[in-house]
Amino acid sequence: ESVLPAGAAELLGQARRIVVFTGAGMSAESGVPTFRDDLTGLWAQFDAERLATPEAFAADPDLVWGWYEWRRARVRQAQPNPGHLAVAAIEELVPETVVVTQNVDDLHERAGSRAPIHLHGSLFAPRCVGDAAHPAAFPDVATSQSAESGEWQDQSAEPEKATDKSAEPDEGRRIAPPCCTRCGALVRPGVVWFGEALPEAALAAAVEAATACDVLLTVGTSGVVYPAAEIPRVAARAGAVVIQVNPEPTPLDGVCDVNLRGTAAGVLPALAATLQSVAEEA
Ligand code: NAD
Ligand code: APR
Repeated sequence: ESVLPAGAAELLGQARRIVVFTGAGMSAESGVPTFRDDLTGLWAQFDAERLATPEAFAADPDLVWGWYEWRRARVRQAQPNPGHLAVAAIEELVPETVVVTQNVDDLHERAGSRAPIHLHGSLFAPRCVGDAAHPAAFPDVATSQSAESGEWQDQSAEPEKATDKSAEPDEGRRIAPPCCTRCGALVRPGVVWFGEALPEAALAAAVEAATACDVLLTVGTSGVVYPAAEIPRVAARAGAVVIQVNPEPTPLDGVCDVNLRGTAAGVLPALAATLQSVAEEA
């Protein structure tokens, strides 16, 4: 049965260019905590200013690197959920589908999405504080195919439990960030922190895709962080049909043509099935 109102199902079926814009809610059913959900939001447990900012890393690199190592371990344990798999299926059915994600996990890639645009970087692409241009990735974490091959001394020998429990995130532990063997600078998480600019090429590609698409699916984002939250608005202004998948209302409700109050894993497979049946009838 289609979860879409008839008109929207038809418009989705006719779409030649689709943008799938995703946020933390896309990975919630994979067990990766979101940022702002009441019970599970990461920020609810940790002070964002302490962890996801350049100042925090400068002040206490071991704490911040340790937190991102914990997040990387969580993602490695996670599996893509039926929502990620449905996005990859939509890409197969409609070749001109572009995935734009605010997520720093690699679950879209592991579900088969070819080249998601990461507006906020990736947990699996640390870089040097010295030079944003040269990635200091980590060769030994072969568990994530999205990790690039690079080299750095892994100073994070089995870390002892931190002494000062109060100063560290519950699940985290202090881990000294590695140094890049090429330039000797500290390696930092390859994610966009509060206050930092987004990677220009990624943002430009996302805006271009949003401007050109027939349909934009916005899935699992609270739509409160800019400039990423601008992407669905760019699509709406360019005349695309905007369909939201989110169990909760968001500030994006006003720009959406269709609001599907449901979860990524619950709704996206039905949207992929709608496209599949249209493809079979064609
Ligand atoms: P910010 O306060 O630095 O603002 C980001 C930019 O968006 C600024 O240039 C601001 O002028 C612009 N902006 C604000 N409101 C806007 C609007 N209504 N329309 C258009 N542009 C608007 O952003 P931030 O919240 O401090 O975070 C900066 C970046 O870091 C964001 O992209 C955020 O998502 C990212 N971030 C990433 C992580 C992570 O772990 N990956 C964590 C936190 C933040
Ligand atoms: N399916 C779909 N949506 C869900 C699900 C689910 N199973 N579970 C939660 N959601 C929704 C919530 O209702 C919420 O609107 O996902 C959204 C998660 O919002 P946030 O936690 O704010 O995540 P996000 O929108 O990705 O945050 C944007 O802010 O902290 C920065 O850079 C960070 O990329 C992040 C950005």
